[in-house]
Amino acid sequence: MKPNRLTECGNWILERFPLTKLWNDHMAQYYAPKNFNFWYFFGSLALLVLVNQFVTGILLTMNYKPDSQLAFDSVEYIMRDVNWGWLVRYMHSTGASAFFIVIYLHMFRGLLYGSFKQPRELIWIFGMLLFVALMAEAFMGYLLPWGQMSYWGAQVIISLFSAIPVIGDDLSLWIRGDYVVGDATLNRFFAFHVISVPLVLVLLVFLHIVALHEVGSNNPDGIEIKKHMDPWGHPVDGIPFHPYYTVKDIVGVGVFLLFFATVIFYMPEMGGYFLEHANFIPADPMKTPEHIAPVWYFTPFYAILRAIPDKFAGVIGMGGAIVVLFLLPWLDRSKVKSIRYRGGIYKKALFLFVISFVGLGYLGTQPATPGATTVARILTAIYFGFFLLMPLYTRWEKAKPLPSRLTEQPSLEDRIPALIETFEEMTVVKPVETQNGTVLKRRPNLSGILKVITRLAINLKKSLD
Ligand code: HEM
Repeated sequence: MKPNRLTECGNWILERFPLTKLWNDHMAQYYAPKNFNFWYFFGSLALLVLVNQFVTGILLTMNYKPDSQLAFDSVEYIMRDVNWGWLVRYMHSTGASAFFIVIYLHMFRGLLYGSFKQPRELIWIFGMLLFVALMAEAFMGYLLPWGQMSYWGAQVIISLFSAIPVIGDDLSLWIRGDYVVGDATLNRFFAFHVISVPLVLVLLVFLHIVALHEVGSNNPDGIEIKKHMDPWGHPVDGIPFHPYYTVKDIVGVGVFLLFFATVIFYMPEMGGYFLEHANFIPADPMKTPEHIAPVWYFTPFYAILRAIPDKFAGVIGMGGAIVVLFLLPWLDRSKVKSIRYRGGIYKKALFLFVISFVGLGYLGTQPATPGATTVARILTAIYFGFFLLMPLYTRWEKAKPLPSRLTEQPSLEDRIPALIETFEEMTVVKPVETQNGTVLKRRPNLSGILKVITRLAINLKKSLD
């Protein structure tokens, strides 16, 4: 049969560009472990949010004015007069918070399954560089609406550089381009936010994925699937990424979009956490807001800064909290990767770490009262203790024996009967008098609820042993 025009055109391209090879190497013939669970949704979700930020960001740029006299009003103009401008802006502002939620969960997955351990150290390092670039991107983006919190937040954070001995004052002046945050600062932050940092992000995502595809994905069992190959040279416990994980990831995207759309349409400010109330007031260099706090995703690090009494030591502490994450692959001396086979100490340490991170995040949003500062100091000690004591406790603790092949866990469908049973245990069907006579209604059952909570607590304790 004579090839038609379209096939001819396709062949013309394929003779000049390795499209099929790329598709096969990275999708159809890329074998991933067959036991990925929901924690593995967050990588593809991070890519989705990145694309959302690019598309909505470009649309915002079409009407935004990077000028200290016009910036605030241009954002109001986008919200009120530009067609669908409100939607684009809320997609971008909610996207920023969603990015950090997704990335924190993505990083936590790494801690659960030891995905940073040999041979995936470089994936982790590129990931950490992405995290730092993302923080820079978010920080500079936050100045652009030129509201009170944009202005004073930037003022506080940039002035931190002045705590560095000798060069500090000159450095913060150089960053601002003025003695206070001003038009020059807004212009350069706009340039970085819109061009430079996005380019760095794209480059780092590329390197992150290249490094991942070189060594292959880790998995919830933390064992290497490449140890058992079939006669065709494919891992026995692996499945092609496409179609299996492309389809699975679409489920994750669907669930994510439900939450994302709910926030955008019903609670875009998220009670002042995603868009702070003070940022609806234009920046006023003559009026300092009573309580300056960064957006929620920076608050754990901000709380560490405030917990340390000396300004310079605080800056070092805050920077150290991020630097120590880079060192994780070398701090963890355990022979096993996944939390499933680690001893109880790592599990308890991780539990405490999560409490310290969330606790610091909360305290960072609150005024620094003496009581809150004491708690922040304790949580800061736990945060650093998790990392700095890691070489000791991961070497001491005894790991469980590793299986040689991936293990099978009950799926969500398998768990449904048990979930229904628990629901029935926690509720009771009672006759209730109504205007239309007696009807049967399901009501909470206190003793059942207590039994379930006790069972959960016992199981949690057992899983930490
Ligand atoms: C823009 C930000 C990021 C994007 C778009 C991104 C994307 C991805 C994707 C698509 C995967 C493969 C799918 C998966 O395993 O979930 C992945 C894996 C991974 N990422 Fe990221 N990532 C980002 C940031 C980070 C950060 C901040 C870290 C940690 C510091 C990190 C650490 C890892 C690790 C260790 C893996 C391998 C996981 C495994 O095999 O178990 N990533 N990333």
